[in-house]
Amino acid sequence: MDVMPGVERGNGGIAPGVENLLLHFTPFEDDWGKLPVIVSGEGCYVKDDRGRSYIDGLAGLFTTQVGHGRGELAEAAARQMRELSFFPNWSFQHPRSLELAARLAGLAPGDLATTFFVNSGSEAVETVIKLARQYHRANGEPGRYKFISRKVAYHGTTMGALSVTGLPAFKAPFEPLPGGFVHVPNTQQDPEGAADAIEEAIEFGPPECVAAVILEPVQNAGGCLVPPEGYWQRVREICDKYGVLLVSDAVICAFGRLGEWFGIERFGVVPDMISFAKGITSGYLPMGGVVVSERVRKALQQNAPMFFHGSTFGGHPASAAVALENLAIIEREGLLENVHNLEGYFGEELSRMAEGHPIVADVRGMGFFWAVEVRPEKADGTPLEGDEYRKYFKGVLSRKLFEGGLICRFDDKDEPVIQYSPALVADREVLSKIAEITDSALTELERQLGYRG
Ligand SMILES: Cc1ncc(COP(=O)(O)O)c(C=O)c1O
Repeated sequence: MDVMPGVERGNGGIAPGVENLLLHFTPFEDDWGKLPVIVSGEGCYVKDDRGRSYIDGLAGLFTTQVGHGRGELAEAAARQMRELSFFPNWSFQHPRSLELAARLAGLAPGDLATTFFVNSGSEAVETVIKLARQYHRANGEPGRYKFISRKVAYHGTTMGALSVTGLPAFKAPFEPLPGGFVHVPNTQQDPEGAADAIEEAIEFGPPECVAAVILEPVQNAGGCLVPPEGYWQRVREICDKYGVLLVSDAVICAFGRLGEWFGIERFGVVPDMISFAKGITSGYLPMGGVVVSERVRKALQQNAPMFFHGSTFGGHPASAAVALENLAIIEREGLLENVHNLEGYFGEELSRMAEGHPIVADVRGMGFFWAVEVRPEKADGTPLEGDEYRKYFKGVLSRKLFEGGLICRFDDKDEPVIQYSPALVADREVLSKIAEITDSALTELERQLGYRG
């Protein structure tokens, strides 16, 4: 669960509307009246309603690739709204979604060249499920309905995407969920056996019932789980051996987060589908989608009457216009290169910082996507649990990070981690500052937990 410390507003007042707005994944026990209200942003920084500035170390929510306050994106949206405010992609086309689909075909790996647009990452994963099942049906294998994904992985909240998600606590309030979703150990839980576990799950399926394997290039939940060398190649071989589709859920990892257009390029394999959202528009407007291979497209077009799926706003003209401009900015400003050039620096800054902190268990990541894992224990080895855990991790660590001027994520879906995913425009100064603020926050946490005198 994400945890955010409260802020004190000078007059002790709460923001108007607090009682009317139901927040996403936000504990009711938190004092919502004291949660930060973010009012503006510029580049890698945002400001709250008290005028304080913070590094947006999470790019909103792994989203704001080109940074905040980009007039070019606002203008692209406004231009499009004046020209054609809205038209759907149901039986009609419009120039921006055509141009964007063509652009994505040029950027995607291998023969992935056809895109279905939706509005969010969850809808993209939902679309993957439908595409995979309809593909197998069109291919004469209607019995293939199961999906394999990894434990702890987060793939969204709609009922299908939630079923792909490997977090039992997130599903419990909504059960029963649809059947046919299997979860295998992730690469942190079983680095050597994680690929074999996928093969075992397919064998157990049995294979003629398995539709697809859905994985993130680098798994977010659990803290930037970079797979071991050869993992993706092995998974590709396994999927090919059993006729199972391989899906890269790149909702976080695409559009430069790992220094590549779709993230998966770093691992040298070509999946059958890629789901994306977030960074395609840098979050200036909502958009998601799935780009599919020729094999998937042809099977559907040749053997099915249509793809039985749709969304009023999928491929919205204004979102598509913003996406095109966003991609142009990423290219024009060399942001993929910036990530490649500085990922080592960022990783070294965090690792160097961590050397002075016995409470840090690991530093891992890739591109502009990093995590610092923190041991939930006192200096004498006593585990931190329940109220005490909340007191130290929320009351001390999260508070110190935030008060130090850094918005990042303290996450404990698995082992506790601090996660960073700054805008791709971040320079050395911003990256060093992130490490510096983390350094002070960890020092205070260690002091209170008896690691320091
Ligand atoms: C890998 C992955 N898939 C899907 C989703 C769901 O995206 P959304 O919140 O846009 O529905 C997320 C959200 O963080 C994600 O990280």
